[in-house]
Amino acid sequence: MIITIDGPAAAGKGTLASNLSKKYGYAYFDTGMVYRAVGLEMHLLGKDLSDKEAALSIAQNLTFEHMHELAQNPDFRSALGGKNASIVSAYPEVRAALLKMQQDFALHPVFADGTPAKGVIYDGRDTGTVVCPHADVKFFITASAEVRAERRYKEFLQKGISTNYDEVLADVKARDERDSNRATAPMKPAVDAIIFDTSSLSIQDVTEKACEVIDEKQKN
Ligand code: DC
Repeated sequence: MIITIDGPAAAGKGTLASNLSKKYGYAYFDTGMVYRAVGLEMHLLGKDLSDKEAALSIAQNLTFEHMHELAQNPDFRSALGGKNASIVSAYPEVRAALLKMQQDFALHPVFADGTPAKGVIYDGRDTGTVVCPHADVKFFITASAEVRAERRYKEFLQKGISTNYDEVLADVKARDERDSNRATAPMKPAVDAIIFDTSSLSIQDVTEKACEVIDEKQKN
């Protein structure tokens, strides 16, 4: 079983994915990590983000193991990390170089400790449209920019990162704009995706609705 969850930053994709991963025993691939890894490596090597050749070379050499090493760096999940990932993800050659690594995960899905899993859940922007167009179940999770900025803002505060709401909102809007309007694999719901708006739905409600869809699919 392959499940894809696409949508903008802070819509609740990660929480839904990890709820479903626990309930069904499926491995989880957060595909934003591949772009965050390239963005961070560019930063660590002192490369300018406009240097497409450097970004491509990093993408071509990226391994799953190195991506997880980079994920230990505090900048990996920072606002700047998200912005840098969004910038390098707009390069078609970088996307092409990272596609196989993402697709191969579904052939032998494993948990973090290497245990094989019965299925896979992808989260990202193009997992239902490009990475796994033949996925069994596709979701697209969204929410207003204001609601998502509020969530991100609270997350940053909880982590002790000082920021202000207006900056977070501006960042969310800029990232939506870039991710939705790039020429290659823009963020959009797959034609067969089920769309949930979490502006007014709790993540528990969304999880329940998603489980109903998956259970129904499993029966057939
Ligand atoms: O989900 P995230 O915030 O970790 O993603 C960081 C950036 O990576 C996002 O702004 C756009 C890019 N991305 C992408 O282009 N395609 C994906 N499948 C996942 C992320």
